[in-house]
Amino acid sequence: MYEQTLRNLQTLVGYRDEDSQILQRAYPVTSTWADEFVRLFYDTLFAYEPTARIFRPGERAEREITLKEWYLRVVRGEIDEDFWRWQWRVGLVHIYRKVTNDFMLGMMSLIQQAFLQKCMEAWPPEEALEVFLAFKRVTDVVSGLIAEGYMRGYQQAMKEFLGFRTELLERLLAMESRSLVQRLEKLTMSTAGD
Ligand code: HEM
Repeated sequence: MYEQTLRNLQTLVGYRDEDSQILQRAYPVTSTWADEFVRLFYDTLFAYEPTARIFRPGERAEREITLKEWYLRVVRGEIDEDFWRWQWRVGLVHIYRKVTNDFMLGMMSLIQQAFLQKCMEAWPPEEALEVFLAFKRVTDVVSGLIAEGYMRGYQQAMKEFLGFRTELLERLLAMESRSLVQRLEKLTMSTAGD
């Protein structure tokens, strides 16, 4: 399940092994940005009530260590099977900590923007673009794995909890999502004349 998702993402995003080599070469510079990015990440989450309330009192320091480890692993270019499997696991952990994918994707975008800014300051444009795109491809595959891991984990947990077979759950989901679309269309039509 995770392997096929990884293959889909790597193919569609255009990730290649060369990306991890580009990141490895840039590591002496990009590793020095870790603390600044971690601060930006958690200052942003703690300044916004819907994300701040996810954290337990006193949890920030621990979370900062994990994010720093994650960032340094990416920029070290240590991108192997173990790393990808870890990203899938993040999606599962996020389910029980109620970290929905809008939060995750918003923060991934913020980190990518900050990384681009730093690259532009550190290197001439061509080199900056090369390093940024390598980082972007890796972290886009990461976002995809976390999001899909979250969705599949959610479905799996429901299926096991309710004792459904996969086909039955898929049929129910298809039926319910169709009716959700119809309800949304009715709502759009009723507000269109406002
Ligand atoms: C760029 C997006 C994100 C990345 C790369 C990321 C990465 C991670 C990683 C590596 C872990 C550790 C998983 C493990 O146990 O192996 C984790 C857990 C966690 N993350 Fe995220 N995360 C992201 C977004 C967020 C956001 C937006 C929030 C909060 C709004 C958040 C809150 C948490 C929490 C509460 C845990 C669980 C810690 C625990 O109970 O062990 N994460 N995340």
